[in-house]
Amino acid sequence: MTDMNPATTYTDGGVDTNDSTQRSLESMAAERYSRRQAMYRGAGATTMAFMGTSLLAACDEDSGGSSDPFGNGVSVSAGSNVATSAGRVVTLTGTVTGEAGDAKWTQTSGTAVTLIGTGASVSFIAPAVAAATDLVFQFSAKPLIGVAKTASTTVRVSPAVLGFTAVAHSLADVVVVPTGYSVTVMTRLGDPIAAGVAAYKNDGTDADFDKRVGDHHDALAWFGLSASGGVDANSSTRGLMVQNHENITQKYLHAAAPSTGARSEAEVIKEMACHGVSIVEYNDAGDRKWSFKQDGQLNRRITPFTDMVFRGPAAGSAMLRTKHSPDGTKGRGTINNCANGVTGWNTYLTCEENYAGYFRRDAADDALRTPRELASLRRNGVTSRTGSYSWSSAATTNTAITRWNATISSATATSADDFRYEMNQMGWVVEIDPYDPTSAPRKRTALGRFGHEGAFVRIAANQKVGFYMGDDSGGEYMYKFVSTATWNAADANSTSRLAMGDKYMDAGILYVAVFNPDGTGAWKPLVYGQVPPRAASSSYPDGYTFADQADICVNTRFAGDAVGATPMDRPEWTTGNPVTGEIYLTLTNNSGRTPATTNAANPRSYQNNPGSGSRSNPNGHIVRIREDGDNTDAKTFRWDVYMFGIDSTDYPTDPNTNVSGLTVANDFSSPDGAFFSRATNPGGQVKPLLWLQTDDGAMTDRTNCMMLAAIPGNVGDGGAATIDNGGTTQGTIVGTKATAANLRRFLVGPVDCEITGVDTTPDGRTMFVGIQHPGDSGTIAAPGGHWPYTQGGATPAATVRPRSALIAITKNDGGVIGL
Ligand code: FEO
Ligand code: CA
Ligand code: CA
Repeated sequence: MTDMNPATTYTDGGVDTNDSTQRSLESMAAERYSRRQAMYRGAGATTMAFMGTSLLAACDEDSGGSSDPFGNGVSVSAGSNVATSAGRVVTLTGTVTGEAGDAKWTQTSGTAVTLIGTGASVSFIAPAVAAATDLVFQFSAKPLIGVAKTASTTVRVSPAVLGFTAVAHSLADVVVVPTGYSVTVMTRLGDPIAAGVAAYKNDGTDADFDKRVGDHHDALAWFGLSASGGVDANSSTRGLMVQNHENITQKYLHAAAPSTGARSEAEVIKEMACHGVSIVEYNDAGDRKWSFKQDGQLNRRITPFTDMVFRGPAAGSAMLRTKHSPDGTKGRGTINNCANGVTGWNTYLTCEENYAGYFRRDAADDALRTPRELASLRRNGVTSRTGSYSWSSAATTNTAITRWNATISSATATSADDFRYEMNQMGWVVEIDPYDPTSAPRKRTALGRFGHEGAFVRIAANQKVGFYMGDDSGGEYMYKFVSTATWNAADANSTSRLAMGDKYMDAGILYVAVFNPDGTGAWKPLVYGQVPPRAASSSYPDGYTFADQADICVNTRFAGDAVGATPMDRPEWTTGNPVTGEIYLTLTNNSGRTPATTNAANPRSYQNNPGSGSRSNPNGHIVRIREDGDNTDAKTFRWDVYMFGIDSTDYPTDPNTNVSGLTVANDFSSPDGAFFSRATNPGGQVKPLLWLQTDDGAMTDRTNCMMLAAIPGNVGDGGAATIDNGGTTQGTIVGTKATAANLRRFLVGPVDCEITGVDTTPDGRTMFVGIQHPGDSGTIAAPGGHWPYTQGGATPAATVRPRSALIAITKNDGGVIGL
């Protein structure tokens, strides 16, 4: 026992519960830390957790014997000291020698954790820490006679690191995730989500898409459910999965080729109903064994047929009036639902992106429109003569279908007679209460109308609520909406959720972003009276003068033009770092970005294939901003380019294209989805993980679309740079370069797909990801791929149709995803 005396001989672990020494935990930790630096340093991530075993030979410090005449020879051991990092699973295993009961673990110091399990073996998730932190745990057992025997062990937790091996480029027809992770295919196109609905046959004969999961899975979000089926935002085992269905792969929806000429009404109804949003109950049967509940009480489809109401400045505007809604206050459904937002009051925001293409306007329409209307239609891209899928060609009197023809019906008709303004009913941010299946979604017109990608909601104490939004089209803008009301934390628990939306989304100021060359930026208010007329130009010879705030809300792009907003390379998702508040904006690519039209925030113009082809921005980049004063209501900000996409095989070292220094382990193209890990788990604390998803066509000869994980720094962690675009130079502000430690590929999807939505359970131990339009390159007879039927390693028949689907990703040891 003399070796156990820490005053004479340090024995790692043996001193941990030696009360007689009266030493502070801090001094013990410091001593242990200095002695073990050499041991910890250089240990691989997977081996660290098992280190220390050899140092623990004498850890049974309370071993009974002569000092305890009632010990009956009982001794206990707390096992080895271990080192790990935030987010990983740590298992504590105590051992008892001799007859004893009531074996248990308790934590005696360090950041408090929740122990999972009981008895001699328990586990916990290593908490987020800013620096190496020791957690001490005591194991005890009680002999039949006498006092409990105790022993302790120390777990040193280091700050979070990316804890997986990078996934290589892949062209396989399967979702690839890192070793140690598993994929569960969840809701797929056509899966029934109401009682009594038959399984999806996937041969084109299924109908009833108002009771089935839609197509083209896009943004998604988890809304927790309590055991009784009510709101429990913190639940990680039962919840509602809310997911957008952006579009369709038309050829796989029908038994044979889609009808042409006058479309079949039944086919049109099916195609329409495959759009929208699905809400489906998900359950964990234990240890993250996921399934969905076909007859969940709150299951719901929201489609282009669902009744909706308009709110905000444009509600009731003459520009929204139709035969269906002569007063312009209600509408039918939502279309092309791309990215999303989650509010602080438990509602979901679905964003209408490429709505314009669905509308038909006959040639005769032009002569019946005012110049102002024609300018608006052109600026917003409502120029098709057929509309997507020619829906309005169906021989029907059903105005839910005929409305896709926005042609003015006659020179004497009014907007109450036709659907000339139906296109103005789309292009909005739509708020849905997922917990109330009877509620009508509300279109929030104060947030403007454009090709809405997403709407990241930033909630900060004592601040107004900020909504950050991209307009996904070449050369379009970044926007934010700031509520008039200051956030009241009590509203998070309101049961009148859509009324909270009224409070924070109907009154406020819409702004558009100007990025200055020096790394500063300004938010320009789009407020009637403060916005000058949109200047005349060759495309818009009359310019555009606003009539009122409703006009600014409907024709938001013109307002952005008028105040000199910065044209961006297709603004996609926005997301916010939950610790710093910095906002990230993915800019997916821009085929129209020439060397002559670059700007500081969109600085590259280069050839996709080196040495051939015209210059553009084929691979995209990611801009981030930090509001001055870290306030959502700031009028100015600082910005930099966080990361530039590139194919590193094409451009391994060129500083003008591979600006961020990407390698084959982390190169990507066309960033789209972006998501910070939730602040409710170690992935979203201290230095939160950023997840990036791609919707690429430029690098798909090399790899299918992907998702990466990053641990980004902060705005301004790089510096000024000059990009040479083939002899024309452009100054910019760049972030710190990528490294293997701060950016790593986590997932590659199946053939032809786009990787879309992402969220996790609050505990961060399950991640949900959308897989959109896999295998869509082929024909009915020979689909381009067969995912998800390939996911388990099967080889389906050559005619099996692929399906968009949502996947759940779990770590086999139960740890936090990515760490
Ligand atoms: Fe629907 Fe801009 O992605
Ligand atoms: Ca998108
Ligand atoms: Ca996209």
